[in-house]
Amino acid sequence: MSPPRTFPITQDWTHFDPVAYLDEYYGDLGPENLALLEFMAETYELLPKGGTLLDFGGGPTLYPLISAANRVDEIHFADYLEANLEEVRRWILCDPTAFDWNPFIRKAIELESGQICSEESVDQRAAELRQLITRLIRCDASKPSPIPELERPYDIVLTNFCAESATDDHDQWRSYMANITSVLKPRGWLVISALKGATQYAVGPHSFPAVDISEHDLRNLLKDMGFEGAKVRVRSVPADRPTRDYKGLMLAVAQKNPNFREGSSE
Ligand SMILES: C[S@@+](CC[C@H](N)C(=O)[O-])C[C@H]1O[C@@H](n2cnc3c(N)ncnc32)[C@H](O)[C@@H]1O
Repeated sequence: MSPPRTFPITQDWTHFDPVAYLDEYYGDLGPENLALLEFMAETYELLPKGGTLLDFGGGPTLYPLISAANRVDEIHFADYLEANLEEVRRWILCDPTAFDWNPFIRKAIELESGQICSEESVDQRAAELRQLITRLIRCDASKPSPIPELERPYDIVLTNFCAESATDDHDQWRSYMANITSVLKPRGWLVISALKGATQYAVGPHSFPAVDISEHDLRNLLKDMGFEGAKVRVRSVPADRPTRDYKGLMLAVAQKNPNFREGSSE
């Protein structure tokens, strides 16, 4: 077993290299990525059909949107870094140098249908997803209005490994989550994946800060922010590699209570 790599932690996001990030975390369909695809396939099946979905802090990734593609009417994709949006833009424009999401698309369709998926189905789903993404937006979770020029609150907000992977401060994590979920409409659905017990995560030769949270922290936060049925489903998915500085993944879906007011007991 190789020892964990230790790099100095940086808060300078210009060091976040989208290609290095994709290679490190999405280079294969290991247990973590399979659990994520399975979670997304099951979740979108359960949520009401239609509406607009926002992926907040999507980074350079498209995996969580594959199973949403045949369920929602429109997708807005937001990230803090222009470099990440550029990586996604290259995929949308079918640039041959863009990351290859086809193995993820194939697996997602197989998980949805329980059947072997053809090349045509992969191409069709990719084309549908490209059509559905209508906005690429710079966002900032530290701002009370984290999406500039918000058109209307969203029906679904998806956020994966964003708030807890953007700070190492517990209070700041809570405040980022409150800002992110402020763009969700009442009765809207939050779909979230988060690192469990993280201290940092490596991207190429750099490490970025992460806040050490547990299922208990996530469940409490969702309750405090007025989410009902805050069902925090924690899969026993340990980190794929011993070199990872987190214990596993937490996956949750929750609905925003329309009557919730901050400080109320609802
Ligand atoms: C660990 S990556 C997660 C990317 C992707 N969602 C995934 O599932 O792999 C963390 C993301 O948070 C973004 N980020 C960092 N600071 C942020 C901020 N203040 N507001 C919104 N996003 C931020 C980064 O640009 C990066 O894309």
